[in-house]
Amino acid sequence: MKITVVGAGAIGATLAYRIADKDLADELVLVDIAKDLAIGQSLDIIQSIAYSGKTEVTAGDYSKSAGSDLVIISAGKPRSPGMARLDLMNTNKGIVGAVVKDVMANSPDTMIMTVTNPMDVMNYVAWKGSGLPRERVIGSGGQLDGSRFKCVLAGEFGVRPKDVEAYVLGEHGELQVPVFSNVKVNGKAVSFNDAQKEAIREKIRRSAMDVIEKKGATVFAPINTTTHMVEAIVNDTKALIPSSMVLDGEYGKRGVSLGVPVILGKDGIEEVLEWKLEPYERKIFDEAAEKLGGYCKTV
Ligand SMILES: NC(=O)c1ccc[n+]([C@@H]2O[C@H](COP(=O)([O-])OP(=O)(O)OC[C@H]3O[C@@H](n4cnc5c(N)ncnc54)[C@H](O)[C@@H]3O)[C@@H](O)[C@H]2O)c1
Repeated sequence: MKITVVGAGAIGATLAYRIADKDLADELVLVDIAKDLAIGQSLDIIQSIAYSGKTEVTAGDYSKSAGSDLVIISAGKPRSPGMARLDLMNTNKGIVGAVVKDVMANSPDTMIMTVTNPMDVMNYVAWKGSGLPRERVIGSGGQLDGSRFKCVLAGEFGVRPKDVEAYVLGEHGELQVPVFSNVKVNGKAVSFNDAQKEAIREKIRRSAMDVIEKKGATVFAPINTTTHMVEAIVNDTKALIPSSMVLDGEYGKRGVSLGVPVILGKDGIEEVLEWKLEPYERKIFDEAAEKLGGYCKTV
């Protein structure tokens, strides 16, 4: 398995470290316009796994990444305090578009995982620009939002986050869809009224900005959930992980990339699960499709 990470900043480098530390790749290549940064990160990772890992880690240009089985795109600007993810659109769509061209020229049979924000629209850009089947262009962010939902619910119910089962679909952004209708706490279904749903939704929405305002960037949570996705593909685990994909009739939508529950395995998205959303959830999902569908048309 050859994996390339494009963008060796906070997300890309930490993700690459995690992939190497977990032995998920035989070869791992870091690519960044800041060439020395990519080289420095690769050397640090090589030294970090000197007692344990098998992964051959390098840094360089796209020719070095040729023949990659999986390319993860985390190149581009991150949010500063006060910014919405969609504020990054104009800068990052050019970056992701250019990256995808270089990726496909060197790794035509690859799979792409999109991390750069606004992730759903950038995943659409990657799909459109790559010409790859939509099952092989996968956006990371849904499970991250799910982990934030779990943390908020754990606080509400006085349990540990790992004892809460909860999923988030829709936009990786303002119009995220916490699926209240299938939340389980310690294995038991729970119910919420609309006021509780709104209050919890607002807390989840704030979660990332709380981190950005205090430490400058979100890193550990997104790279952990992205690593789960990489693991599902590399080890063919058939894990259920909400991921963004270009929809073609699923959930009644087309021409937009949005978070839906999918089964991830060696072929990428192997199945899309059609959950029955409650009216409250369906309304936000439809709004997200409408809003992001508009952006997808323009990019
Ligand atoms: N999807 C998610 O869950 C999620 C979570 C956190 C962050 N993000 C997003 O991930 C992206 C990266 O965040 P970060 O904190 O690592 O930012 P960062 O600034 O630390 O790193 C970005 C890197 O991209 C590189 N880059 C810029 N243009 C490039 C190009 N054309 N080719 C190759 N490399 C290029 C930069 O040199 C930099 O090293 C941001 O858009 C951020 O919003 C997504």
